[in-house]
Amino acid sequence: MSNVAELNRTYGIAGQIRFLKGPGDMAVVEIENDLGCASMTLQGAHLVGFQAVGEQPLIWMSDEAVFAPGKSLRGGVPICWPWFGPHATDPGLPGHGPARTVGWKPVASSALEDGRTTISFEMIDTDATRKQCAHPLRVQLHVTVGRTLQMVLETTNLGSTPFILGDALHTYFLVGDVRQAQVEGLDGCDYLDKVAGGSHTQHGAVTIASEVDRIYLGTGNSCAISDPVMGRRILIHSEGSASTIVWNPWIEKTLRMGDLGPDGYLKMLCVETANAADDVVELAAGATHRLAVEYSSEPL
Ligand code: BG6
Repeated sequence: MSNVAELNRTYGIAGQIRFLKGPGDMAVVEIENDLGCASMTLQGAHLVGFQAVGEQPLIWMSDEAVFAPGKSLRGGVPICWPWFGPHATDPGLPGHGPARTVGWKPVASSALEDGRTTISFEMIDTDATRKQCAHPLRVQLHVTVGRTLQMVLETTNLGSTPFILGDALHTYFLVGDVRQAQVEGLDGCDYLDKVAGGSHTQHGAVTIASEVDRIYLGTGNSCAISDPVMGRRILIHSEGSASTIVWNPWIEKTLRMGDLGPDGYLKMLCVETANAADDVVELAAGATHRLAVEYSSEPL
Protein backbone atom coordinates (compact mmCIF):
# COMPACT_ATOMS: atom_id res chain seq x y z
CA MET A 1 0.00 0.00 0.00
CA SER A 2 1.97 3.03 -1.18
CA ASN A 3 -0.81 5.33 -2.29
CA VAL A 4 -1.16 8.08 0.33
CA ALA A 5 -4.93 8.41 -0.22
CA GLU A 6 -5.38 4.72 0.57
CA LEU A 7 -3.03 4.98 3.57
CA ASN A 8 -5.08 7.90 4.88
CA ARG A 9 -8.33 5.96 4.43
CA THR A 10 -6.99 2.93 6.31
CA TYR A 11 -4.68 4.37 8.97
CA GLY A 12 -5.30 8.15 8.98
CA ILE A 13 -6.96 9.68 12.04
CA ALA A 14 -8.55 13.13 11.64
CA GLY A 15 -6.38 15.75 13.34
CA GLN A 16 -3.78 13.15 14.45
CA ILE A 17 -2.36 10.98 11.66
CA ARG A 18 -1.92 12.11 8.09
CA PHE A 19 0.06 10.58 5.22
CA LEU A 20 1.49 12.77 2.48
CA LYS A 21 4.24 12.89 -0.10
CA GLY A 22 7.34 14.44 1.46
CA PRO A 23 10.86 15.31 0.27
CA GLY A 24 12.11 13.17 -2.63
CA ASP A 25 8.48 12.16 -3.26
CA MET A 26 8.70 9.80 -0.29
CA ALA A 27 5.62 8.79 1.66
CA VAL A 28 5.68 10.50 5.04
CA VAL A 29 3.36 10.22 8.03
CA GLU A 30 2.75 13.15 10.34
CA ILE A 31 1.54 12.39 13.83
CA GLU A 32 0.18 15.24 15.91
CA ASN A 33 -1.92 15.75 19.04
CA ASP A 34 -2.26 18.22 21.93
CA LEU A 35 0.88 16.79 23.57
CA GLY A 36 3.45 16.57 20.78
CA CYS A 37 4.17 15.91 17.13
CA ALA A 38 6.41 13.64 15.08
CA SER A 39 7.05 12.81 11.50
CA MET A 40 8.35 9.64 9.83
CA THR A 41 9.16 8.32 6.38
CA LEU A 42 7.74 4.93 5.44
CA GLN A 43 11.11 4.04 3.94
CA GLY A 44 12.99 2.67 6.93
CA ALA A 45 10.09 3.55 9.33
CA HIS A 46 12.51 6.37 9.98
CA LEU A 47 11.46 8.98 12.52
CA VAL A 48 12.67 12.37 11.27
CA GLY A 49 11.33 14.67 13.98
CA PHE A 50 9.71 14.80 17.41
CA GLN A 51 8.77 17.75 19.57
CA ALA A 52 6.65 17.93 22.73
CA VAL A 53 4.26 20.90 22.81
CA GLY A 54 5.98 23.92 24.37
CA GLU A 55 9.44 22.31 24.17
CA GLN A 56 12.30 22.48 21.69
CA PRO A 57 12.80 19.70 19.10
CA LEU A 58 14.42 16.60 20.55
CA ILE A 59 15.76 15.05 17.36
CA TRP A 60 18.43 16.32 14.95
CA MET A 61 18.10 15.94 11.16
CA SER A 62 20.86 16.98 8.80
CA ASP A 63 20.00 19.85 6.44
CA GLU A 64 21.89 17.80 3.85
CA ALA A 65 20.09 14.49 4.38
CA VAL A 66 19.38 12.82 1.04
CA PHE A 67 15.78 11.63 0.69
CA ALA A 68 16.18 8.97 -1.99
CA PRO A 69 15.15 5.32 -2.43
CA GLY A 70 17.56 2.92 -0.74
CA LYS A 71 19.56 5.68 0.97
CA SER A 72 19.71 5.98 4.75
CA LEU A 73 18.73 9.41 6.06
CA ARG A 74 21.37 11.28 8.04
CA GLY A 75 19.67 12.15 11.31
CA GLY A 76 16.44 11.15 13.00
CA VAL A 77 16.14 7.57 14.21
CA PRO A 78 17.57 5.04 11.74
CA ILE A 79 16.70 1.44 12.65
CA CYS A 80 19.74 -0.85 12.70
CA TRP A 81 18.43 -4.40 12.22
CA PRO A 82 18.99 -7.39 12.27
CA TRP A 83 22.63 -6.60 12.91
CA PHE A 84 24.49 -3.57 14.23
CA GLY A 85 27.57 -2.17 12.44
CA PRO A 86 29.35 -4.45 9.94
CA HIS A 87 27.78 -7.88 9.36
CA ALA A 88 29.53 -10.52 11.52
CA THR A 89 30.61 -12.75 8.61
CA ASP A 90 29.83 -11.04 5.28
CA PRO A 91 31.54 -7.67 4.72
CA GLY A 92 29.56 -7.32 1.46
CA LEU A 93 26.31 -6.74 3.38
CA PRO A 94 25.35 -3.18 4.33
CA GLY A 95 26.43 -1.78 7.69
CA HIS A 96 23.59 -1.71 10.26
CA GLY A 97 21.45 -4.08 8.14
CA PRO A 98 18.77 -3.47 5.53
CA ALA A 99 15.87 -2.25 7.72
CA ARG A 100 16.71 1.46 7.56
CA THR A 101 16.64 1.66 3.76
CA VAL A 102 13.71 -0.57 2.75
CA GLY A 103 9.94 -0.13 2.70
CA TRP A 104 7.79 -0.53 5.80
CA LYS A 105 3.99 -0.53 5.89
CA PRO A 106 1.64 0.72 8.60
CA VAL A 107 -0.29 -2.12 10.26
CA ALA A 108 -2.27 -0.29 12.97
CA SER A 109 -2.97 3.18 14.33
CA SER A 110 -5.03 4.52 17.19
CA ALA A 111 -5.88 7.61 19.20
CA LEU A 112 -5.36 6.75 22.87
CA GLU A 113 -7.73 7.93 25.61
CA ASP A 114 -4.94 9.86 27.34
CA GLY A 115 -4.42 12.07 24.25
CA ARG A 116 -1.42 10.22 22.81
CA THR A 117 -1.37 8.71 19.34
CA THR A 118 0.13 5.40 18.36
CA ILE A 119 1.08 3.89 15.02
CA SER A 120 2.70 0.55 14.15
CA PHE A 121 4.73 -0.45 11.11
CA GLU A 122 6.05 -3.73 9.77
CA MET A 123 9.07 -4.13 7.52
CA ILE A 124 8.03 -5.43 4.09
CA ASP A 125 9.71 -8.72 3.19
CA THR A 126 11.02 -8.75 -0.36
CA ASP A 127 13.49 -10.82 -2.37
CA ALA A 128 16.07 -8.10 -1.63
CA THR A 129 15.57 -8.25 2.17
CA ARG A 130 15.57 -12.08 2.11
CA LYS A 131 18.82 -12.02 0.15
CA GLN A 132 20.41 -10.04 3.00
CA CYS A 133 18.86 -12.12 5.77
CA ALA A 134 17.48 -15.52 4.83
CA HIS A 135 16.26 -16.36 8.34
CA PRO A 136 12.47 -15.85 8.62
CA LEU A 137 11.84 -12.92 10.98
CA ARG A 138 9.05 -10.41 11.52
CA VAL A 139 9.96 -6.93 12.71
CA GLN A 140 7.54 -4.24 13.78
CA LEU A 141 8.03 -0.74 15.13
CA HIS A 142 5.42 0.73 17.48
CA VAL A 143 5.62 4.51 17.93
CA THR A 144 3.65 6.46 20.54
CA VAL A 145 3.65 10.24 20.42
CA GLY A 146 2.71 12.31 23.47
CA ARG A 147 4.72 14.56 25.79
CA THR A 148 7.30 11.79 25.44
CA LEU A 149 8.27 9.68 22.46
CA GLN A 150 8.07 5.92 22.86
CA MET A 151 9.44 3.47 20.30
CA VAL A 152 9.33 -0.31 20.52
CA LEU A 153 11.18 -2.48 18.00
CA GLU A 154 9.70 -5.96 18.16
CA THR A 155 11.38 -8.90 16.44
CA THR A 156 9.81 -12.36 16.18
CA ASN A 157 11.75 -15.40 15.09
CA LEU A 158 9.43 -17.19 12.64
CA GLY A 159 12.02 -19.89 11.92
CA SER A 160 12.68 -23.22 13.59
CA THR A 161 16.23 -22.46 14.77
CA PRO A 162 17.62 -19.71 17.03
CA PHE A 163 18.66 -16.41 15.45
CA ILE A 164 21.42 -14.09 16.68
CA LEU A 165 19.88 -10.61 16.67
CA GLY A 166 21.67 -7.27 16.81
CA ASP A 167 19.58 -4.11 16.77
CA ALA A 168 19.67 -0.40 17.59
CA LEU A 169 17.55 2.72 17.56
CA HIS A 170 20.34 4.93 16.22
CA THR A 171 18.94 8.21 17.51
CA TYR A 172 20.50 11.56 16.59
CA PHE A 173 19.64 13.99 19.41
CA LEU A 174 19.69 17.75 18.89
CA VAL A 175 22.21 19.49 21.18
CA GLY A 176 23.16 23.17 21.51
CA ASP A 177 26.91 22.51 21.25
CA VAL A 178 28.21 18.94 21.49
CA ARG A 179 31.46 20.20 23.05
CA GLN A 180 29.49 21.20 26.13
CA ALA A 181 27.09 18.25 26.28
CA GLN A 182 27.66 15.23 28.52
CA VAL A 183 26.23 11.72 28.54
CA GLU A 184 25.37 10.66 32.08
CA GLY A 185 24.58 7.17 33.33
CA LEU A 186 27.47 5.20 31.79
CA ASP A 187 29.96 5.67 34.63
CA GLY A 188 31.68 2.35 35.42
CA CYS A 189 30.57 0.64 32.17
CA ASP A 190 33.07 -1.11 29.92
CA TYR A 191 33.16 0.00 26.31
CA LEU A 192 34.71 -0.97 23.00
CA ASP A 193 36.42 2.03 21.47
CA LYS A 194 36.01 1.95 17.67
CA VAL A 195 38.32 4.98 17.25
CA ALA A 196 41.27 4.20 19.53
CA GLY A 197 40.66 0.44 19.59
CA GLY A 198 40.54 -1.80 22.63
CA SER A 199 38.29 -2.12 25.61
CA HIS A 200 38.13 0.52 28.38
CA THR A 201 36.09 1.50 31.42
CA GLN A 202 34.15 4.77 31.57
CA HIS A 203 34.91 7.08 34.48
CA GLY A 204 32.36 9.84 35.05
CA ALA A 205 30.25 11.38 32.30
CA VAL A 206 31.09 11.02 28.59
CA THR A 207 32.31 14.24 26.99
CA ILE A 208 32.99 14.92 23.30
CA ALA A 209 36.17 16.72 22.21
CA SER A 210 37.11 14.59 19.19
CA GLU A 211 35.59 11.69 17.22
CA VAL A 212 33.79 9.34 19.61
CA ASP A 213 32.49 5.93 18.54
CA ARG A 214 31.97 3.59 21.47
CA ILE A 215 29.87 0.56 22.26
CA TYR A 216 29.12 0.53 25.98
CA LEU A 217 28.28 -3.00 27.11
CA GLY A 218 25.97 -4.22 29.84
CA THR A 219 24.45 -0.76 30.30
CA GLY A 220 21.46 -0.06 32.57
CA ASN A 221 17.95 1.13 31.79
CA SER A 222 18.54 4.83 31.82
CA CYS A 223 20.98 7.45 30.71
CA ALA A 224 20.74 11.14 29.91
CA ILE A 225 22.28 13.92 27.85
CA SER A 226 22.84 17.11 29.80
CA ASP A 227 22.95 20.16 27.55
CA PRO A 228 23.77 23.47 29.26
CA VAL A 229 23.46 25.41 25.98
CA MET A 230 19.85 24.34 25.37
CA GLY A 231 19.27 24.31 29.14
CA ARG A 232 17.85 20.81 29.20
CA ARG A 233 18.53 17.22 30.06
CA ILE A 234 17.29 14.58 27.61
CA LEU A 235 16.20 11.45 29.47
CA ILE A 236 16.54 8.07 27.79
CA HIS A 237 14.76 5.14 29.40
CA SER A 238 15.12 1.74 27.77
CA GLU A 239 14.05 -1.88 28.08
CA GLY A 240 15.40 -4.95 26.32
CA SER A 241 18.67 -3.20 25.55
CA ALA A 242 22.06 -4.23 26.92
CA SER A 243 24.29 -1.82 24.94
CA THR A 244 24.49 1.93 24.44
CA ILE A 245 26.42 3.42 21.53
CA VAL A 246 27.76 6.96 21.82
CA TRP A 247 28.78 8.42 18.47
CA ASN A 248 29.88 11.77 17.14
CA PRO A 249 31.92 11.83 13.89
CA TRP A 250 33.69 15.13 14.66
CA ILE A 251 35.35 17.09 11.81
CA GLU A 252 37.29 14.75 9.52
CA LYS A 253 34.74 11.96 9.40
CA THR A 254 32.03 14.58 8.77
CA LEU A 255 33.93 15.73 5.68
CA ARG A 256 34.19 12.13 4.44
CA MET A 257 30.51 11.43 5.03
CA GLY A 258 29.24 14.36 2.97
CA ASP A 259 25.61 14.45 4.20
CA LEU A 260 26.06 15.88 7.71
CA GLY A 261 26.51 19.53 6.75
CA PRO A 262 29.79 21.28 7.59
CA ASP A 263 28.91 22.08 11.22
CA GLY A 264 26.33 19.36 11.73
CA TYR A 265 28.59 17.45 14.10
CA LEU A 266 28.37 20.30 16.64
CA LYS A 267 24.59 20.03 16.82
CA MET A 268 24.12 16.27 17.05
CA LEU A 269 24.93 13.48 19.42
CA CYS A 270 23.95 9.86 18.82
CA VAL A 271 23.08 7.89 21.93
CA GLU A 272 21.82 4.60 20.61
CA THR A 273 19.75 2.05 22.50
CA ALA A 274 21.02 -1.26 21.24
CA ASN A 275 22.05 -4.88 21.51
CA ALA A 276 25.46 -4.95 19.85
CA ALA A 277 28.85 -6.73 19.89
CA ASP A 278 28.85 -9.26 22.80
CA ASP A 279 25.36 -8.12 23.80
CA VAL A 280 23.56 -9.57 20.76
CA VAL A 281 20.38 -11.47 21.61
CA GLU A 282 19.96 -15.18 20.99
CA LEU A 283 16.35 -15.30 19.86
CA ALA A 284 14.86 -18.78 20.21
CA ALA A 285 12.56 -20.20 17.52
CA GLY A 286 9.11 -18.62 17.95
CA ALA A 287 10.36 -16.05 20.50
CA THR A 288 9.87 -12.27 20.37
CA HIS A 289 12.35 -9.66 21.51
CA ARG A 290 11.33 -6.08 22.37
CA LEU A 291 13.80 -3.21 22.30
CA ALA A 292 11.99 -0.23 23.81
CA VAL A 293 12.88 3.40 24.50
CA GLU A 294 11.14 6.42 25.93
CA TYR A 295 12.60 9.89 25.37
CA SER A 296 11.67 13.00 27.32
CA SER A 297 13.39 16.13 28.54
CA GLU A 298 13.53 18.28 31.66
CA PRO A 299 14.99 21.72 32.34
CA LEU A 300 18.61 21.60 33.46
C1 BG6 B 1 27.36 4.34 14.58
C2 BG6 B 1 28.59 3.49 14.44
O1 BG6 B 1 26.36 3.60 15.24
O2 BG6 B 1 26.87 4.67 13.28
C3 BG6 B 1 29.63 4.26 13.64
O3 BG6 B 1 29.07 3.14 15.73
C4 BG6 B 1 29.07 4.69 12.30
O4 BG6 B 1 30.78 3.45 13.47
C5 BG6 B 1 27.78 5.47 12.54
O5 BG6 B 1 30.01 5.50 11.63
C6 BG6 B 1 27.09 5.92 11.25
O6 BG6 B 1 26.88 4.84 10.41
P1 BG6 B 1 26.31 5.05 8.96
O7 BG6 B 1 26.30 3.68 8.35
O8 BG6 B 1 24.93 5.64 9.12
O9 BG6 B 1 27.23 6.02 8.28
